[in-house]
Amino acid sequence: MSKTSATPIPVLQDRRILLGVTGSVAAYKAAELASRLTQAGAQVDVILTRAAARFMAPLTFQSLTGRRAYTDEDLWGAEAHVLHIGLAEGADLLVIAPATANTLAKLAHGLAQDLLSITALAARCPLLVAPAMDGGMYENPATQANLQTLRERGVISVGPVEGRMASGLAGLGRMAEPTELLGHIRLTLARSGPLAGRRVVVTAGGTQEPLDPVRVLANRSSGKQGYALAQAALDRGAAVTLISGPTALRPPVGAQVVQVKTAAEMARAVLEVCRKADVLLMAAAVADFRPAQAAPQKLKRRQGIPAFHLEPTEDVLALVTEARQQGGFPRVLVGFAAESQDLLNNARAKLEEKGLDLIVANDISAPESGFASDSNRVTIIDAQGGVEELPLMPKTQVAERVLDRVTAVLTGTAYEGA
Ligand code: CTP
Repeated sequence: MSKTSATPIPVLQDRRILLGVTGSVAAYKAAELASRLTQAGAQVDVILTRAAARFMAPLTFQSLTGRRAYTDEDLWGAEAHVLHIGLAEGADLLVIAPATANTLAKLAHGLAQDLLSITALAARCPLLVAPAMDGGMYENPATQANLQTLRERGVISVGPVEGRMASGLAGLGRMAEPTELLGHIRLTLARSGPLAGRRVVVTAGGTQEPLDPVRVLANRSSGKQGYALAQAALDRGAAVTLISGPTALRPPVGAQVVQVKTAAEMARAVLEVCRKADVLLMAAAVADFRPAQAAPQKLKRRQGIPAFHLEPTEDVLALVTEARQQGGFPRVLVGFAAESQDLLNNARAKLEEKGLDLIVANDISAPESGFASDSNRVTIIDAQGGVEELPLMPKTQVAERVLDRVTAVLTGTAYEGA
């Protein structure tokens, strides 16, 4: 049997995360969160309140994190006088998920009655809470006032969401899902990243050009590479606008999403947001041609096979290059080239023609690479003629490498290679 590999996430790598778990049935979701953070490379120290330990065993968390999980028993043990300080010190983030109404009240009023609340009082790192409570408790003015106090102090509150609660009542009170929490954790840890204060625009997915009200001319782009680039830019602290064609993907937490369908809509959106952007990553597969005239009504089979006259669409990158010559933005322009032959020469020509700083070229005919796949084999070419050929790797890692290059161009530092 082989060991399955973890999925490292650089922004979480070796970061110390304190995970406080309080007494809600949603505590079972904290186990998944602990597991995912650990798999991503974080060091997760779990503190369970007495009520939480009735829902979930400390051993569950210990097994998932490979580290000791703490309870109030430890507060009175041999390490007691330093434990809460030790846990709080050096932590990059304190996450309390689920956070009950009682815990929120304690946090808001500075009560220090158990290991978690004492640690929270001692901690100087950011605090993220994921409220979870049953019918009516969230809306209660007391809870709202406590949350307001916490937010004013800079506490990040994620959720709760609508849905069925343990009592069977439906309403606002369910804890946000671990995926959502993970996105907010990444966002919080990325605040001081190398792209903090920078604006990055990413385009992703394919465009769709209408033939009639129900049919479109589309392409095979899944949007995976573009969405991974958006996440990698967020993980470096950038403010990210993701301009996306139709995809089945969930946008990364924190990205401002602009949904478009056609090349014309994409061109409009990109030109608008690029006026103030530091970087444009043009990963979208924009249609090159569209029907000159879409049929106003659904085409009928009995009308026979229709003939379409095609016209060129906007070349979005060319328009951005033109605008950049006048306004100076975006500072860094990155194109993508999907080639099925003569990769390097075709990509180099595109880099020059479109006035790019970098081009990321991929051979779409290679196995396990390109459209819809989770992995990609790309070559990055820069304006100085440098060629970096990367091996087959997950699209998330390709995104990291592209962002390393972009960060180097933007900050004027030499790229050392990964
Ligand atoms: N692109 C664009 N607008 C278009 C078509 C493409 O901005 N109408 C961008 C893509 O997002 C990509 C780069 O141009 O970053 C290269 O796209 P690609 O389709 O590989 O190249 P084309 O310039 O369209 O050339 P060809 O299709 O002939 O290879």
